[in-house]
Amino acid sequence: MRSLLKKSYCILFLLLIVSQNPVSGRKKVLDPKKPCKRFVLYYHDILFGGDDVANATSAAATNATKLGNTEFGMLVVFDDPMTKDQHLLSHPVARAQGFYFYDMKTDYNAWFAYTLIFNSSDHKGTLNIMGADMMMEKTRDLSVVGGTGDFFMARGIATFKTETQQGTKYFRLKMDIKFLDYMTNMVASISREYAREGTSDSTIVSQNPVSGRNKVLDPKKPCKQFVLYYHDILFSGDDVANATSAAATNPTKLGNTYFGMLVVFDDPVTTDQHLLSPPVARAQGFYFYDMKTDYNAWFAYTLIFNSTDHKGTLNIMGADMMMEKTRDLSVVGGTGDFFMSRGIATFTTETQQGTKYFRLKMDIKLYECY
Ligand SMILES: *[C@@H]1O[C@H](CO)[C@@H](O)[C@H](O)[C@H]1NC(C)=O
Ligand SMILES: *[C@@H]1O[C@H](CO)[C@@H](O)[C@H](O)[C@H]1NC(C)=O
Ligand SMILES: *[C@@H]1O[C@H](CO)[C@@H](O)[C@H](O)[C@H]1NC(C)=O
Ligand SMILES: *[C@@H]1O[C@H](CO)[C@@H](O)[C@H](O)[C@H]1NC(C)=O
Ligand SMILES: *[C@@H]1O[C@H](CO)[C@@H](O)[C@H](O)[C@H]1NC(C)=O
Repeated sequence: MRSLLKKSYCILFLLLIVSQNPVSGRKKVLDPKKPCKRFVLYYHDILFGGDDVANATSAAATNATKLGNTEFGMLVVFDDPMTKDQHLLSHPVARAQGFYFYDMKTDYNAWFAYTLIFNSSDHKGTLNIMGADMMMEKTRDLSVVGGTGDFFMARGIATFKTETQQGTKYFRLKMDIKFLDYMTNMVASISREYAREGTSDSTIVSQNPVSGRNKVLDPKKPCKQFVLYYHDILFSGDDVANATSAAATNPTKLGNTYFGMLVVFDDPVTTDQHLLSPPVARAQGFYFYDMKTDYNAWFAYTLIFNSTDHKGTLNIMGADMMMEKTRDLSVVGGTGDFFMSRGIATFTTETQQGTKYFRLKMDIKLYECY
């Protein structure tokens, strides 16, 4: 375990950056009016009504509670198309996978956590977004808390605007995504883009050559890296002693791949592949299935370390696109020994025994260490 998490030079690096660069550069980059990259996409949500499997893109995994008459507690899982223009039938440029639920007893109001998944020749990667969708406001800002692939370690703001709402059947949101923090491999492409477009923002990129930050955030050079194995034994009714997770909702009837089934877990995490090895951490959180044509999941959880080696937590969220050999999720925060850490968690499925047991390899790479 001692070799697992080697002390790194990140603290030194960051101190150097702070003193050489008295916050001005970063402040400039993070001027809310001057995102370093921005794009507008349209989100289309067609709520499953029971007989529209072909068209529906989301489904209620829970019914509303009786706390008010505004669907309080109704949890909707979605795998929604994202288009560049307002037309539902335009070619999707990304998918939005995640959930929202209604959370106000006097008005319609929602809370979102989801992943934008890009898989085209233009962009490959994900953006992880969360926040309150205060529907009574004309526009609402949510947080882009992490990114992977082309959006490696990105952060920013996603501004929602409801464009149309057809009862509970269909709604369209405009999502104006502004990056205020961008990293290594984005810099090159953004510089190119701005150079091409000749916008004044190109000066931001070039005046502030991100070198310090860039160095720290080279994807090949995490400041901490360790591999852990996650074991999930799904409760089936008679295995209380062994089970480590349980389905809190039933699958919906949208497809045959468990769409909407939400599993809560408190899973052991080991440093080798053996289920029965002494756990070095717990993974507590949830995943749910969110695709109607294939097995595909979405995770949000905390790794909890409580040993003499490490005390603290790491918070992780993102899409688990199970059809891919490896998937990158975002490490969005940390506490204790992992104070304020951010990074990437790369999942690989190592074994899958029906719905009973599966093991994931989690390769955790931190790029912000303190
Ligand atoms: C699915 O969408 C198409 C086109 O938008 C529409 O013509 C059709 O009626 C829809 N089917 C259902 C079951 O809602
Ligand atoms: C919601 O309520 C309906 C009607 O009572 C019931 O048939 C359905 O199973 C419920 N769905 C969930 C997810 O609990
Ligand atoms: C991305 O596209 C490739 C090529 O079409 C496909 O093989 C792969 O499954 C896609 N991945 C996701 C996550 O959709
Ligand atoms: C629990 O796990 C042990 C060892 O892995 C196994 O022998 C036993 O049959 C399991 N019990 C149940 C109820 O699954
Ligand atoms: C951490 O370990 C200590 C000592 O074994 C125990 O008292 C404490 O409850 C544990 N905390 C958690 C969150 O597991």
